[in-house]
Amino acid sequence: MAINNQQPTTNNQQQITTWSQRFESALHPAIANFNASIGFDMELIEYDITGSVAHAKMLAHTGIISELEGEQLVSGLEQIRSEYREGKFNPGIEAEDVHFAVERRLTEIAGDVGKKLHTARSRNDQVGTDTRLYLREQITQIRTQLRELQTVLLNLAEAHVETLIPGYTHLQRAQPLSLAHHLLAYWEMLQRDWERLGEIYRRVNISPLGCGALAGTTFPIDRHYTAKELHFAGIYANSLDGVSDRDFGIEFLAAASLIMVHLSRLSEEIILWASEEFGFVILKDNCSTGSSIMPQKKNPDVPELVRGKTGRVFGHLQGMLVLMKGLPLAYNKDLQEDKEALFDGVKTVRACLEAMTILWQEGLEFRTTRLASAVTADFSNATDVADYLAAKGVPFREAYNLVGKVVKTSLAAGKLLKDLTLREWQELHPAFAEDIYEAITPTQVVAARNSYGGTGFEQVRQALADARKRLSS
Ligand code: ARG
Repeated sequence: MAINNQQPTTNNQQQITTWSQRFESALHPAIANFNASIGFDMELIEYDITGSVAHAKMLAHTGIISELEGEQLVSGLEQIRSEYREGKFNPGIEAEDVHFAVERRLTEIAGDVGKKLHTARSRNDQVGTDTRLYLREQITQIRTQLRELQTVLLNLAEAHVETLIPGYTHLQRAQPLSLAHHLLAYWEMLQRDWERLGEIYRRVNISPLGCGALAGTTFPIDRHYTAKELHFAGIYANSLDGVSDRDFGIEFLAAASLIMVHLSRLSEEIILWASEEFGFVILKDNCSTGSSIMPQKKNPDVPELVRGKTGRVFGHLQGMLVLMKGLPLAYNKDLQEDKEALFDGVKTVRACLEAMTILWQEGLEFRTTRLASAVTADFSNATDVADYLAAKGVPFREAYNLVGKVVKTSLAAGKLLKDLTLREWQELHPAFAEDIYEAITPTQVVAARNSYGGTGFEQVRQALADARKRLSS
């Protein structure tokens, strides 16, 4: 392909119509509507402009267009950016999509030179570039939000090392815990989310620009130049893959789904804890709502909504997987359907992270006296009695059976283990001594679980210091 910079741009007044002259009649209006993505892809406009600026600079850099033309394109594109930011750029459905909308406006601003922007490019590599630029930025923002929630949880955990809370398995009282340990479990989940998004970022951050419609281009483009301009870490090696790969979107939605799983589990805890039955937390007025009919009610709408919105993100993941599974190479219009899934996935996760952070920061309070009485009023120290005997040489299974027996008789007598007399203990087994009482206090029960990663206070303090360090690294 010969490049002729001297060739003046024609000065005809022919408008940029979407399709070449091969088309004789316009689209049916309903089909135009059906086909258009402008209704949702304006979300990409800033990235589209940024990508086009890089492309225009590359065209000039490689001599495909002149330096002057390159400058005209860039300044026209920046003008569109300003117009958009000022709320003055509102293309209608006739633009079909954000890419055409920008190109048309550019031609209005810069004249015929605007029609050179699309040289050596297709909307296929263009939209792939835009989507990656968008997602890259969103991932960075989401990671920051994860850090904020982690910080709030960590601060709270540090204040509650010695606050005890019943621990559950099967939602049955199991063993008491340091509240900090419980909160740190969520901190760890969010830490994995943060790491996972960092790993996915690497695969989002690859440039498809220059792959053309599917097969590359006849022009002597410089793909590394545009990749560098756009701060991509690399470029797609295969043009067919470059224009049709949406793995990065699926990976993102999978990571987003896991974030939602974690937020939803945390939500479920808050909802339970705020109930009369648990009574472990009080929701403050700034984060709860009332009922329109029952004046006594205070509802945990925030965690309920987070739990509810989880389904949409899972749905988008499923939608994207199904979207991709039957597509032959390369670009197919089906791919236009990736956008709403990604945009809504991003918005949902971000809104949930924000609400959850506010809720933990200022919307709830632990009822510490209620928690303290909860952990003394059950049999969650039964394992410790068995451990006590086992430490004195009684085989654990034998000790376990003995304690089961004493739990049964205590329950029948309406007593707790701490209420048994030393004689009663010794009738059960002669190895019991006065120190059994200390061994079964909730504080001792927690402190004793000093194995690595356990709820023992020493371990928890270590874990908190560790989390603090990981947060700042
Ligand atoms: N609006 C389209 C999309 O979102 C842009 C790419 C169109 N490409 C094409 N060959 N029709 O995917």
